[in-house]
Amino acid sequence: MAKITVVGSTAMDLVVTTSKRPGAGETVLGESFKTVPGGKGANQAVAAARLGAEVSMIGCVGDDHFGQLLLSNYKSNGVITDNVEPVTGMETGTAHIVLAEGDNSIVVVKAANDRVTPAYVDRAVDVIKASDIVLIQQEIPEETVIHVSELCAKYNVPLMLNPAPARPVPQVVVEKAAYITPNEHEAAILFGDEQLGEVLRRYPNKLFVTEGKNGVRYFDGTQEVLVPGYKVEAVDTTGAGDTFNGAFAVALAEGMSLQNSLKFANRAASLSVMKFGAQGGMPTRSEVEGSL
Ligand code: RIB
Ligand code: NA
Repeated sequence: MAKITVVGSTAMDLVVTTSKRPGAGETVLGESFKTVPGGKGANQAVAAARLGAEVSMIGCVGDDHFGQLLLSNYKSNGVITDNVEPVTGMETGTAHIVLAEGDNSIVVVKAANDRVTPAYVDRAVDVIKASDIVLIQQEIPEETVIHVSELCAKYNVPLMLNPAPARPVPQVVVEKAAYITPNEHEAAILFGDEQLGEVLRRYPNKLFVTEGKNGVRYFDGTQEVLVPGYKVEAVDTTGAGDTFNGAFAVALAEGMSLQNSLKFANRAASLSVMKFGAQGGMPTRSEVEGSL
């Protein structure tokens, strides 16, 4: 069984659907409101667990109702929560999501996720050491991302960095990560004006730029490769990137080839967008394999 550790955020997604996104100073009438589990770290952990990996989460929730719900959501998905702590006197992270005009816009309030500090991670260093792969994103403090990249390098554990949401990434993290998985927008923020083709060449078999339903692009040492995605009827694309990352990590940890791992991850992500909610639609192992 692949051992995956996720260091990252846990959030409750507060989702409204509306036909028109309001502009500044505008009020519109929405159609529905739902509260569903989310947070990039949690989503990646749940994605990997549904695909059959042994997943440990390192994260924080608040000591509120959302925190309780999200802890039990981890458990019902089989994610190990020994290192998910409710922080006294803090609120659970939330993501305020508007689904409109075929796309989402999101405001994230980190709250307790800010307590995922380097010292907090250090208490779980044995879990990190025993992992086949560690996954990290950017809804936790930057110093923690740096620290985890150093720990993984020290203990020789491959690190997958999903640099989302977009913000510049310290060069030390870029160098130490084994896999970096931005979307096109995040890649532009990471590498500035540099041509994507050039950047891909600089990080062969390490930098994977996801392009939504088009698939994922990387440089294999000889040539640029696009592993095509799967076209499906999308209901909600929230969490598709997280499903991709969780699935990619599982496949790599199990020793699948790079090409097959990317195919597997693309398939998992495409299935996830067919249902509402970041974690709704995240497939099981047999659902992915049955549709490859
Ligand atoms: O990647 C999707 C996630 O980003 C959502 O679940 C939401 O929590 C936001 O943080
Ligand atoms: Na979904």
